[in-house]
Amino acid sequence: MKLLYSNNKTREIDQLAAEALGIDSFALMQKAGAAVHQYLDTHQRLLVVTGPGNNGGDGFVVAELARQQGQKVKVLALQPVSKLTGDAAKAAAAYRGTVIDEWPDENFDCVVDAIFGTGLTREVEGSYASIIGLINNNEYKTLAIDIPSGLNGTTGQIKGCAVRASQTVSILGRNTGLYTLDGPACCGEILFADLGVPAVALQSVVAEAQLMNREKLQELPAARANNTHKGSFGHVLTVGGQAGMLGAVLLAGRAVLKSGAGLTTLITDQEHQALVPLYAPELMVSGFSGTSDDEPLSAGKPADVVVMGMGMGQSQWSKQLFKLALKTPSPLVMDADGLNLLARSPVTPEHLRVITPHPREAARLLDVSVAEVQQNRWLAVRQLARRYHCVAVLKGSGTLVSDGEQTWCCPFGNANLATAGSGDVLAGMVAGIMAQGFSPLSAAHLAVLWHALVGTHSRYGFTMTASDLLDDLHEIIH
Ligand code: ACO
Repeated sequence: MKLLYSNNKTREIDQLAAEALGIDSFALMQKAGAAVHQYLDTHQRLLVVTGPGNNGGDGFVVAELARQQGQKVKVLALQPVSKLTGDAAKAAAAYRGTVIDEWPDENFDCVVDAIFGTGLTREVEGSYASIIGLINNNEYKTLAIDIPSGLNGTTGQIKGCAVRASQTVSILGRNTGLYTLDGPACCGEILFADLGVPAVALQSVVAEAQLMNREKLQELPAARANNTHKGSFGHVLTVGGQAGMLGAVLLAGRAVLKSGAGLTTLITDQEHQALVPLYAPELMVSGFSGTSDDEPLSAGKPADVVVMGMGMGQSQWSKQLFKLALKTPSPLVMDADGLNLLARSPVTPEHLRVITPHPREAARLLDVSVAEVQQNRWLAVRQLARRYHCVAVLKGSGTLVSDGEQTWCCPFGNANLATAGSGDVLAGMVAGIMAQGFSPLSAAHLAVLWHALVGTHSRYGFTMTASDLLDDLHEIIH
């Protein structure tokens, strides 16, 4: 289980770790430095860039270990050693190698970023920003200690500018900010050093979230029994596609089936009815006229799941469908324009189970700005879940899934997924997985993970389309 913590919590963890190991904070710093050095011992020429706090102290420990092992090392101290205090001053005093105060005109194999860690409190400016620019503009490998300097360890936002590391060694507690917004791009590969502290010693610290693990996907095929038929895997109503907007709902419907549900019926504008079988003959279709007597969401046997909103628009026709959503007895997944209508609705559908907003839709749902959502995505996703009494999926770099109590963060996925229709596919997948009997939280978790892994491993790279995404779903499962 990989837990994620805010900056405040990782500070608590540092203290508990020192107590659990029976050592003081300076000895903990030496352990942290030794753990980082293990990832550097194949490099012969190191430049360690240190800042004003304990992250810089870790850097001096690394530098001294490298020196003792015969590696060529220099420390570029952005804060003069004479001005360091506490453990950082002790670590600097223990370092016997060369200290410089400006960027050297020579070659290195690796630059170690020990400028700022969790103590970053303000925008990075002046000489710190210039050096970060130089670090980012060189061709050497860059290894960041604990957090790439300039990245807010809680939110994942860049404060002015930030180091773009090739690797980041997260120490003792994984920071939330490494996994969302700009975190993944700044961290490169994330390594972890637990310094030998048993997990039990840290269990009193409340984690913000858990990291998704790709092994979870094995639950999907494992849930299939042999003596079954299409009715065993659920019937989903896939609702949306106002006149002229058939594509989104088609993609969602195909995603419902591709994710394993047995049946789906598209409820879409009447003018699309004859077209649907031509594009996807496996989809059933029912035209919706937009009049209030037409009750396709609750007529007959209720569907196992209704997914609504893809290409739905916000017209009278769309509003009529939304009204029916308030009455449907089936569990409801809401996406896209369904969310925009939900944000303006005085009532929340009783059976709403999952919402899948991107940050702008989330901002409308919470009645705040997009910037406020992005400032603290962890809080925003919890608030969405609590306000709408359902599971919330907050899409974006490091998609988050929360039921208001537990939050999961997806460390997979990339900009390949930033393509039209990708969200429609995700909504269809959530509904399709729910229809097979998974809980809303598990279905949202599985769909986000599966969708992200396809994006990460897509053979199409940035040329991937939503249809390619659908075509590749099976590859990740196998
Ligand atoms: N521009 C310039 N200076 C800034 C800026 C900025 N934008 N933002 C913050 N600072 C300054 C702060 O004022 C502070 O300076 P001060 O100490 O003179 O007040 C300093 O940067 C804080 O720097 P950090 O190194 O980020 O923070 P801290 O000293 O709290 O150390 C830590 C963070 C513990 C190293 C953490 O990132 C970490 O690596 N934890 C993993 C465990 C570990 O390595 N522990 C070793 C230390 S053990 C211990 O301290 C308990």
